[in-house]
Amino acid sequence: MEKTFDLKNLKAIKIELTRFMMAYKFALDEMTTKINILKDEFNYIHEYNPIEHVKSRLKSPGSIFSKVQRKGLDYTLESIKENIKDIAGMRITCSFISDIYEISRMIANQKDIRIIEYKDYIKNPKPNGYQSLHMIVEIPIFMSDREELILVEIQIRTIAMDFWASLEHKIYYKYNKEIPQKMLEELKTTAEMAAHLDNKMEGLHKEMAKMKKTEEAEDQILQSMGIGNNKLKLLETFIEEQLGIK
Ligand code: GTP
Ligand code: MG
Repeated sequence: MEKTFDLKNLKAIKIELTRFMMAYKFALDEMTTKINILKDEFNYIHEYNPIEHVKSRLKSPGSIFSKVQRKGLDYTLESIKENIKDIAGMRITCSFISDIYEISRMIANQKDIRIIEYKDYIKNPKPNGYQSLHMIVEIPIFMSDREELILVEIQIRTIAMDFWASLEHKIYYKYNKEIPQKMLEELKTTAEMAAHLDNKMEGLHKEMAKMKKTEEAEDQILQSMGIGNNKLKLLETFIEEQLGIK
């Protein structure tokens, strides 16, 4: 008799847990759609793609359990929902630093998104050199019988920041969390090198944008003078012939 009761209970827990995890999966689906829309629109306006790639992941029940233990939290779904803010995680890798801020602004400006946490590890890198922009956002998920507000952790970084974070993570785990001081310092230097690369690229990107703007302005002046592309070509040929440089 007791056994059937346990089984019944187990089945109920299983259903409850699955529904709990599903909400996070829906939140990730929802965010993925939002990011894809931003990406397409940005691409159309600025004529380049600011997002190199997007990865999303759901924390496994095992990892959630470990975090509950590590943080000494209550073993209830309410407590997990409130305290573990990275069950749904999304990582957006951008081309340039300025893209990170533009994408984060676009996300923050959406009416149904609430920013719960904003950590700028680009302006204030971690002591080990880690850089990225972290946001915890809350979005509504609509299901058959209820609406739920779900937290999603979004990390936005450049390719260089991602490169550094991936390798640092690997080294960290390989050395079993006991990295010699000298290596820590060297790792930090590599983070600074990655940041230097990002800043150089940002400079080049800005210069190119300025050149493009000047070109567009010149084109516009010629257009307003009634000199279209064909006429312009004829004019060019004429001048070149006159100058004997063709
Ligand atoms: P958690 O409880 O671990 O989530 O820490 P937190 O709430 O202080 O979060 P924080 O925003 O600092 O970092 C969250 C996530 O960012 C981590 O799970 C990693 O994915 C990433 N991260 C933060 N610091 C580092 C770092 O030093 N190296 C690498 N490789 N990743 C980091
Ligand atoms: Mg966190």
